[in-house]
Amino acid sequence: MELEPVPVVLRRLAARLAAAGVGPAAAEARLLAAHVLGCPPVRLDLAAGFDPAAAARLEALAAKRAAGCPLQHLTGCAPFRTATLAVGPGVFIPRPETEVMTGWLLGWLARSALKRPALVVELCAGSGAISLAIALEASGQRQWAVENAAAALPYLERNLAGVPVTVVAADMAAALPSLDGQVDAVIANPPYLPAAAWAELPADVRGFDPKSALVSGPDGLAATRVVAATAARLLRPGGVVASEHDDSHGLAAPAVFAAAGFADLADHLDLTGRPRFATAVWPGSAGASQAGADRAAAAPAPAGAASPTRSAASVEAAEPALISAAGAAARAAETAGRPRGGGKTPGRADGKMMP
Ligand SMILES: C[S@@+](CC[C@H](N)C(=O)[O-])C[C@H]1O[C@@H](n2cnc3c(N)ncnc32)[C@H](O)[C@@H]1O
Repeated sequence: MELEPVPVVLRRLAARLAAAGVGPAAAEARLLAAHVLGCPPVRLDLAAGFDPAAAARLEALAAKRAAGCPLQHLTGCAPFRTATLAVGPGVFIPRPETEVMTGWLLGWLARSALKRPALVVELCAGSGAISLAIALEASGQRQWAVENAAAALPYLERNLAGVPVTVVAADMAAALPSLDGQVDAVIANPPYLPAAAWAELPADVRGFDPKSALVSGPDGLAATRVVAATAARLLRPGGVVASEHDDSHGLAAPAVFAAAGFADLADHLDLTGRPRFATAVWPGSAGASQAGADRAAAAPAPAGAASPTRSAASVEAAEPALISAAGAAARAAETAGRPRGGGKTPGRADGKMMP
């Protein structure tokens, strides 16, 4: 049977994707072609070529991609730091800005130098990207991943099957009461778009990312308030929380944590230089209380209380150096087609950032 050479197929595919406004078209063409041939993208040039059946499969995928289907839904996977996640309908596709926040927590874990495994809870776990990256890059911790969406849970269980992370199917507000007052770190990428932003999202976001993963009340901060209350309940004194937020919430998100009684508030930028995640410390001496019973006596300040320390967030640079553990060049190709640059809103198809 005559095979169509790989370079010829790639040129045709890239031109088709570029014409549809998909970018970076050449990188995406390689990823789709490698997916169809069942080989790693780096080995594509060694493949013999496309038989008619493979060419037809590739054509069908290209048509879906040109129509706006995310690349990750076509290949069924999404890269995140050193991890690869299974994704598809019903689960949020991990975004690059969340890699930065995850890197912050990995840095904190390394600096904290605990003489025992850290207790780490991820709220709003979705595909499990954050928890998997932590399990791979800071192995030996005790981890839990909390998610309440039935459609997301099968992905979460599958992605975390090979690592020692306990999946918790629950609303974060009431999750893991047995850990109250003992957790070292809570991390979350909650839904954070204001309700009105939904209608303005591009069709390829509204059509593929679950609304419940994106939108959170009129001001976008409803889930963040639950993250703050839950973290206040779970953390030991000296424990930290990191929570991603909309780029318009650089002051409002830290204020939510201040109102819940947190100290040492900071806000951090994403790779595009926009405010993207808040961090804070649960006050008190790290050795003062390790048990839930002790914490019950030191109940968190109610929402709306004044910050015990700073009331305004300080903005710190993000930590991009922690991100590219797998190699920048390889990742540039692998991450092609990922929604990027605008938090839960995607980058433009030409790869430039959203205005
Ligand atoms: C933006 S996605 C983040 C997923 C993943 N952590 C990531 O960064 O790719 C938010 C997730 O929070 C989940 N979620 C929303 N409200 C929740 C709640 N009250 N309890 C638990 N999970 C919740 C959604 O179902 C969704 O999977």
